[in-house]
Amino acid sequence: MKNRNGHIKRQERHIAMHIRSVGLQFHPKPNYIHQFEMALSKFNLFHYQLNAVSCFLNRQLPKSARCLSTVLVPGEASGPSVKTTVPGPKSRQMIADLDKIQFAGSVFYFTDYKNSLGNYVVDADGNSILDVFSQISSLPLGYNHPDMHKVVQDPDNQIAFINRPALGIFPAQGWPEKLTNSLLSVAPKGHTQVNTMACGSCSNENAFKAAFMWYRNKQRGGASISDEENSSCLVNRAPGSTPFTIMSFKGSFHGQTLGCLTTTHSRSIFKLDFPALDWPIASFPRYKYPLEDHVKENEAEDRRCLAEVEEQFEIYNKAGKFVAGVVVEPIQAEGGDVHASPEFFQQLQRITKKNGAALILDEVQTGGGATGKYWCHEHFNLPDPADFVTFSKKMLTGGFYSLPEFRPQQGLKIFNTWMGDPSKVLLLEKVVQVVKRDNLLKLVELSGKKLMDGLKDLSNRFPQHMKNNVRGIGTFCAFDLTSPQKRDEAFFRLQQHGVQSGPCGEQTIRLRPFLVFQPKHADIFLDVLEKVLKEIQTP
Ligand SMILES: Cc1ncc(COP(=O)(O)O)c(C=O)c1O
Repeated sequence: MKNRNGHIKRQERHIAMHIRSVGLQFHPKPNYIHQFEMALSKFNLFHYQLNAVSCFLNRQLPKSARCLSTVLVPGEASGPSVKTTVPGPKSRQMIADLDKIQFAGSVFYFTDYKNSLGNYVVDADGNSILDVFSQISSLPLGYNHPDMHKVVQDPDNQIAFINRPALGIFPAQGWPEKLTNSLLSVAPKGHTQVNTMACGSCSNENAFKAAFMWYRNKQRGGASISDEENSSCLVNRAPGSTPFTIMSFKGSFHGQTLGCLTTTHSRSIFKLDFPALDWPIASFPRYKYPLEDHVKENEAEDRRCLAEVEEQFEIYNKAGKFVAGVVVEPIQAEGGDVHASPEFFQQLQRITKKNGAALILDEVQTGGGATGKYWCHEHFNLPDPADFVTFSKKMLTGGFYSLPEFRPQQGLKIFNTWMGDPSKVLLLEKVVQVVKRDNLLKLVELSGKKLMDGLKDLSNRFPQHMKNNVRGIGTFCAFDLTSPQKRDEAFFRLQQHGVQSGPCGEQTIRLRPFLVFQPKHADIFLDVLEKVLKEIQTP
């Protein structure tokens, strides 16, 4: 018994250390692990909708609703199954091995991708976990989707996987057609121009550069580029190097390369020790919930933030640090799933245009279908198309759409070696087909409603733990716990019960399920969350 208690304490200490190393706070309580181990055996008895029932129901439904009960990924588990603590002993050993080579403090657990399927990720210890975080919101159709396998098996496609081109100079024949069938087929309204990039940060960096070039060309008013401009830019001096700026919002996250980092303000861990540019920052609305009870206050909050935007334009433009663009997330994701109203975005577009700047919508996390539309800003009814829409994650390739006036006038300006990866575009082409075939945007809407209703119900029943600010569009949902410590405990307990969620902001848990997340998965998640809320011990 003594040995066993010692073992539990060691496990607890290890997990606490691990959780702290990924930036969460965790206060180990006696018996956590023991309780988990007891609960696990009971938990494994859970059984949910069987695939057979699901198939039967599917046949009874009209075509438009089939996504509800269809077995979207055949062979998928019927519920989570957890055999060890998470991370388990094998994962912990692998984390230690990796840590000898590189800092491995952010690794949750090692993953058995071969055995992961659909909405369930299997870890190195054989735990099958309902994944509502989807690789930081980036894998669209879940694990090992059969249609993705078909893309890779097609010999024609294998050529693209093997021969990665320098896309800016040697694109493969048929490349424009691939872009048309994938990225352009789901482009935001009004967009006909697209550039691919490797990641989200890279996409934003290049959108900023395109905005700067556009702004400078407007200033030149058609004059040609001078010798002085060409020589001064080589030593980082004016007039070739410009004093232009990009405005961003408090709480935002736009990536971690140096330019993007200046526009990122979500957590100090990302920024500390790195140089930052003097660029304008305005407040992003922080609403009171429930929204319907605070209409007046929230409208005033919109006005306060928009007034700051106007003020920042005035200050920076007057100082000659011209604001060439405003970058904004449709929902501030890493910053804690902070939402703003369609009216806020409509006014932001108006103010940005009035000041001769470009509006850059960073849809890296919100894009790709999780809100029930390909682009979250399509919910905002903007009067005009956004100047730039940047993407990555669920779109599988990074990149940005931009209006024609932002096309560079010389080559090599928006450029790097790979400019993305055609093999990812091949996969995206198939994703777009599957989303349409399986009616997945409708499914997102239905599963999202189920999640939101369930979360609101839980926040009413557990006000001691959950704040009443459940928020979401589609399955892009989040809720706050009543303290950062409770959030950390809830996140940890969810994991131990076989649900992988994502922490963000100070005390938020965000849900970023796959596009194949069905109402039956929402039921499973909500049952587990209820169990966790009953177990929380943090005062
Ligand atoms: C809104 C937003 N923009 C940009 C990025 C940066 O993307 P990446 O991590 O691919 O560089 C992220 C990543 O989480 C993001 O959420």
